[in-house]
Amino acid sequence: MKKLLKSIAIVGLVCASFTSVNVMAEKEAMAAPAGPTLYERIGGEVVSRAIVEDIWTNHSNNPIVKGRFLYSDAVTVKERVFEIFAMATGGDVKYTGMDLAERHSNMNISEMEFNAAVDDIMAALTKNNVAQQEQNEVLAILWSVRPAIVNSFMTTDALTK
Ligand code: HEM
Repeated sequence: MKKLLKSIAIVGLVCASFTSVNVMAEKEAMAAPAGPTLYERIGGEVVSRAIVEDIWTNHSNNPIVKGRFLYSDAVTVKERVFEIFAMATGGDVKYTGMDLAERHSNMNISEMEFNAAVDDIMAALTKNNVAQQEQNEVLAILWSVRPAIVNSFMTTDALTK
């Protein structure tokens, strides 16, 4: 009987410790950081600033959008774009510019202009050796802000009706 009680106690202890190991592992998994952010995978500040520089160059050479930035203060716009790019990709950077929808609301930006701007951004990512997975994630972010940028009266749908 003593032996039986001893075995039950041992089995109980083993089970209990396995359970606590499992709970600990689960807690650790929940608390563990979810891996590097998109910002980090892209290359952090140095690469992000290089990307913004190339976006600016691409916009300046793109006949569809270049007229929009003729009178812009390049240094300030690039800083705001760096901030929003860094923040949107998970970097620890604060965006200090205006609300995107508010900033673009009176510009009558068309779908064609938006697509041209996205092409410029994707080309800048390629130039800076950003891998396909990260490019897809940036594209998803850009697509999510589309309604804030494109004027609803300037969509293909609206313009062809
Ligand atoms: C693709 C998504 C876009 C993002 C994330 C974006 C982001 C920004 C940001 C952060 C600013 C600075 C806001 C501030 O100063 O407070 C800005 C300004 C501006 N954006 Fe965009 N933008 C986008 C698309 C476009 C498009 C398609 C056009 C037109 C072709 C455009 C035209 C402008 C202009 C003209 C300014 C003002 C520049 C200045 O202050 O001189 N944006 N944008």
